[in-house]
Amino acid sequence: MIKEIATTPYSDQRPGTSGLRKKVPIFQQRHYVENFVQSIFDSLTGFAGETLVVGGDGRFYNRDAIQKILKIAAANGFGRAVVGRGGVLSTPAVSALIRSLKAFGGVVLSASHNPGGPDGDFGIKYNVANGGPAPEKVTDAIYARTREITSFRIVEAPDVDIDRLGVTQLGDMRVEIVDSVENYAALMQTLFDFDRIRDAFRGGFTMKFDAMSAVTGPYAHVILEDMLGAAPGTVLNGAPLPDFGGHHPDPNLVHAKHLYDLAMSDRSPDLCAASDGDGDRNLIIGRGRFVTPSDSLAVLAANAHLAPGYRDGVAGIARSMPTSGAADRVAEKLGIGLYETPTGWKFFGNLLDAGLVTICGEESAGTGSNHVREKDGLWAVLLWLDVLAARKQSVDAILRDHWATYGRNYYSRHDYEEVDSDGANALVKSLRDSLPSLKGKRFGALEIAEADDFAYHDPVDGSDSRNQGLRVMFADGSRIVYRLSGTGTAGATLRVYIERYEADPAKQFLETQNALSDLIALSHEIAGIERFTQRKAPSVIT
Ligand code: G6P
Ligand code: ZN
Repeated sequence: MIKEIATTPYSDQRPGTSGLRKKVPIFQQRHYVENFVQSIFDSLTGFAGETLVVGGDGRFYNRDAIQKILKIAAANGFGRAVVGRGGVLSTPAVSALIRSLKAFGGVVLSASHNPGGPDGDFGIKYNVANGGPAPEKVTDAIYARTREITSFRIVEAPDVDIDRLGVTQLGDMRVEIVDSVENYAALMQTLFDFDRIRDAFRGGFTMKFDAMSAVTGPYAHVILEDMLGAAPGTVLNGAPLPDFGGHHPDPNLVHAKHLYDLAMSDRSPDLCAASDGDGDRNLIIGRGRFVTPSDSLAVLAANAHLAPGYRDGVAGIARSMPTSGAADRVAEKLGIGLYETPTGWKFFGNLLDAGLVTICGEESAGTGSNHVREKDGLWAVLLWLDVLAARKQSVDAILRDHWATYGRNYYSRHDYEEVDSDGANALVKSLRDSLPSLKGKRFGALEIAEADDFAYHDPVDGSDSRNQGLRVMFADGSRIVYRLSGTGTAGATLRVYIERYEADPAKQFLETQNALSDLIALSHEIAGIERFTQRKAPSVIT
């Protein structure tokens, strides 16, 4: 029985790059989810009888939202919905399912690495047929629709049992509850040499993977422990909890500090790794060696050919602008394209679809490839495992060898969180205005060669994105980048990315902050950070 129910619009349903993300109580308002979901479907055409993939990271409100989405999808004419058991699918697993089922699209329920629970965050994101997040023209249309919606269509029926595998009927729509891991694990098997990795574990290779009580737990248990034979207990915090145990499921040196401490101790396994709430970010730490996401991208690109899925080589590499230039040197040596895009995974989609790049990465702990259209945490861990198994060397040895070959890009990000928005905007404006006068300026041994406001021209669809971050580039290849975070929730977050290239192997083992100290001091001077933000030092250094 399809019902048409009258509703009134909410004014705050503008999806960002990662969909609509709000606190749980906001989503719990009357018809809030219904309005948004109906607006998604109202903005699409041609899905009658088609397949929709639905799943989320298992956070609080996941189940309620899924029931609503299924009933609205059925009432709007989808022919089939494919749902991960218990409503659980990692973000890369949704992307993989959309692609392998040739589905029309998918709905991902997640707020990524943000905390969950009744007072935590929730999110709804629509992905299109290539498996990637909806492009801006679609999200703009969704937002426009949310402003004028007057009714939604919904099937009146009891809730679907999403915990039991199998097929049920919801109105005219077929609902298939599928194993959350199976399709994704099968895809991983086509990319990596599972026998070789299994041999490594059998030979004594040890690892800890922290699922942070979030979605990757079931995936890691099945793939690492069951399929690859890693010792039981390899997966930490492997049971997904609706509130992630009260933690931030963000795999960085702050929220996964225990893992870093373990890796730096004499009890360290060969590899420590972690992923975030919805499974798209990754953290990689070898025994005694943290791998920055920028270095990880470069090392993986240089070694990807060792994995069966990439044996024909990498077509090109893409990185977000603030990500270090380490990958550029790999691309140069391989004679392949290097694409520098604005921050945000969505900018990689066209390059991947056009076959221009195979591997992409961002300094914000995202790495991925053309196998899906999202970044993929477990994929990055498996590629590292495969490379480690193939080279039979430690993470540290591989990194040292990489730096000896390509040089090292010392790299650090300094975040000034929750600063006053007016001050942050004034800093950006003042720095932008001073860019033309910076060129040629000398600060001790450092000379500014170029300073600009990064703009991107998409070579595939011809679109232009301006004001994507201020770059100060020095004659010796060093660089300072300033941009305001697009994901912060309180005030503004100023991110300062500092990078220095060191070709001399004898000088590649300095402590990062020491190696960058001159540039760090300059980063304050050039932008007047203290004057505009009243901060003498960053709140987070990664
Ligand atoms: C999200 C996106 C990433 C992006 C990051 C940037 O995680 O998925 O693609 O790199 O945000 O965040 P920021 O706070 O620096 O704007
Ligand atoms: Zn995420």
